[in-house]
Amino acid sequence: MSKQRTKLVVGNWKMHGRLADNAVLLEAVAQGAGALPANVRVGVCVPSPYLAQTQALLDGSRVEWGVQDVSAYTHGAYTGEVAAPMALDFGSRLAIVGHSERRAYHRESAELVAVKTQRVLEAGLTPIVCVGETLEEREAGKTQQVVGVQLDTVLAKLSAQESARIIVAYEPIWAIGTGKSATAQQAQDVHAFLRARLAAKSAAAADVALLYGGSVKPDNAEELFRQPDIDGGLIGGASLKDKDFLAICKAAGAVGALSVKQ
Ligand code: 13P
Repeated sequence: MSKQRTKLVVGNWKMHGRLADNAVLLEAVAQGAGALPANVRVGVCVPSPYLAQTQALLDGSRVEWGVQDVSAYTHGAYTGEVAAPMALDFGSRLAIVGHSERRAYHRESAELVAVKTQRVLEAGLTPIVCVGETLEEREAGKTQQVVGVQLDTVLAKLSAQESARIIVAYEPIWAIGTGKSATAQQAQDVHAFLRARLAAKSAAAADVALLYGGSVKPDNAEELFRQPDIDGGLIGGASLKDKDFLAICKAAGAVGALSVKQ
C-alpha cells in the first residue's frame, strides 16, 4: 500500500478574474475551506495584479496562494516580468512554473523552466513544476520520454534537498480545458513513472506531492485522487466556480480520510 500523504488541491485561475468577482470567489473558498478535513491543503494561483487582494482576503484562512509564473531573474531590466521575491512580498507560498500554456505560447524551454524553478526555491516559495505531453506525443508512445525529459531537466539543476521541496503536476495537454480528463489509470501510470524518476534523484524527492491537472471536475475528482500516486489536483476551469472547486477539495478530503483508515 502506498504511503499516505496529505492531499493538495490548487486552483490555477489562468488569465481570469476581476476585483469584484475575485472577492466573491475568494471569500467563498476561504469560508468553505475552513470546513475541510485537516488532511487537505488548498491553494489558489491568481494573476499577479490580484496578489494584494488575495492576500487581504485569504490571510488567516486555510487557503494558500501564489502566482502562475515567475521570471528567470531576481530583478533587473526585464519589462513585464514578475520576480519570485515580489510574489513573496504578498505572502505567496506557491508558484506554478512550466505550465504547458507558457511552454507553448511563450516558447519556454525545459532549461528555462528549470531556472525558474531555482528562482522560486531561492525565494522560499514552493514551485509547482508542470509536465505533460501532447495528444500526438501520446499516440506515438512518447509520453514517458516527453515528461521524463521535462522533469529530469529540472531535477538536474537541483540538489537532493531542493528536489524534495518541489511539487510536480502532470497535465496532459490534450486534457486541459477540453472536458476530456485522462482516465484515472492513465494518470496513475504517468504519476508512478514520475515518482520513480523522483526517487532516482533522492529518497526524499520520492515523497513530493504529484498533482494531476486536466479537466478535473467534481464528478471525476474522487476517482483520480484515489490513485496511489495522485496526491491531488491542479484545477483550471473548475477553480473559478466556488462550489465546484470546494467539491473537488471535499473529494480530496474524503479520499485522504479513507486511506488513513486503511
Ligand atoms: P482545466 O482544469 O481547465 O482543464 O485546466 C487544467 C490546467 O491547465 C490547470 O493548470
